[in-house]
Amino acid sequence: MALWGGRFTQAPADAVFALSRSVHFDWRLAPYDLRSSLAHLKVLRTSGLLQEDVADQIEKALRELTTEVASGKFSAIDTDEDVHSALERGLTQKVGAIGGSLRAGRSRNDQVATDLKLFAIDHMLEVANSITKLQAALLAKASEYSDAPAPGFTHMQHAQPIVFGHEIAKHVQSFARDLERIQDWLARTNVSPLGSGALSGSGLSLDPAATAQDLGFGSSSANSIDAVSDRDFVAEALFILSLVGVHLSRIGEEWCLWATTEFGWAKIADEYSTGSSIMPQKKNPDMAELARGKAGRLIGNLTAVLAMLKGLPFAYNRDLQEDKEPLFDSIDTVLLVLPAVTGMVETTSFDRAKMLAAAPLGFSLATEIADFLVRAHVPFSEAHEAAGKCVALCEKDGIELDQLSDQQFKSIHSSLTPEVRKVLTVQGAIASRTTVGATGPTAFADQIKSATTNLSRLSKVIADEQKRFSEMMGA
Ligand code: ARG
Repeated sequence: MALWGGRFTQAPADAVFALSRSVHFDWRLAPYDLRSSLAHLKVLRTSGLLQEDVADQIEKALRELTTEVASGKFSAIDTDEDVHSALERGLTQKVGAIGGSLRAGRSRNDQVATDLKLFAIDHMLEVANSITKLQAALLAKASEYSDAPAPGFTHMQHAQPIVFGHEIAKHVQSFARDLERIQDWLARTNVSPLGSGALSGSGLSLDPAATAQDLGFGSSSANSIDAVSDRDFVAEALFILSLVGVHLSRIGEEWCLWATTEFGWAKIADEYSTGSSIMPQKKNPDMAELARGKAGRLIGNLTAVLAMLKGLPFAYNRDLQEDKEPLFDSIDTVLLVLPAVTGMVETTSFDRAKMLAAAPLGFSLATEIADFLVRAHVPFSEAHEAAGKCVALCEKDGIELDQLSDQQFKSIHSSLTPEVRKVLTVQGAIASRTTVGATGPTAFADQIKSATTNLSRLSKVIADEQKRFSEMMGA
């Protein structure tokens, strides 16, 4: 029996059914729908609205369906409209008309919001877990290159020397913020819509707080109209996933650049590269390019949902059915890209000699001259000007900064003693960077240490949440 139809004399036209139908994509909500049905059944039972023997039969059937959905023995068919109707069909096939009892006090409006929240929590935790693996790979790679000098860039021009590990380790920070964002999102998403019914709550003696607790939520919704129309958790998740995608795309861009013949820094492993169908010599950084390219669709999915929500009247409107495909797609996309980028990071090696040779080029030590003068109490503006003159002189003579003569240094600024050459080394410049978060060896070691501690803290939070969630699903 369809979920509605009593007041209609005609079945929906084919085109209506085709447009209405969502089961081909919302079927993946089935495990969450079954779990929230068990929670709903429990309150119907404890409130006495369902007799024990009826409740027992329905519970047994729901548990069987859970197994059959997992094994693929039960699945949606062409005539099912959505996941809810497909599962009600399955239930009534098992227990007959009493299967329909489960609909008391519940609407697809609170049901779908609950299912989607459970799905989102489950999968955002999986995304978080996958991010921690990338974090571990980035930290390992950063440590491996903790003593490899390289040029640091601003405006894509040589700026100041750094250790290459520092360049890699910066990514750990952005993904750590993503993990914090997911944690934060979880805390806000932790409100159960179930019990809000179609929009106004229920006149039956249900217990939304009990269902919320049963499903692992911290509380039940404070406003039933908000509960059925709130998709903030979808929009926020899509924003987080977009930002993860943007972070991945920036890694992708770097890897593409570093793997060029011109740079020649990165050697991406064969297993994470692809060839060309026509040019036999080619080894392309396609994983890095896909990481970069996929960010576009992630941003598109966020935009689609925000546009769908804008101006949407409150309580349930069918527009809301459009929340699912973008969310599913963004989660699938991020879960596809993360392991590929993790593997690429793990297996890429970098050419230390090339990076070291490039480190002092482009007069990247000019700041050291200015800092040398500042230590001699020369005002920075004057020091900056003098260092600039050193660069100009070198450019004119086609030499490097440390090749300027004592006389040339002196003529530019009286405080530029021959001692200045001591700071004109890549190693010296790097070693002098001692502030928190700097590229110098001690600061860098501290950075790696605290990033590692932070990662184990976040990994534990995620593992605990995943354990809690899977116990709830299995209860
Ligand atoms: N398939 C619908 C969705 O995904 C379920 C809710 C339908 N509710 C309704 N009143 N038509 O949003």
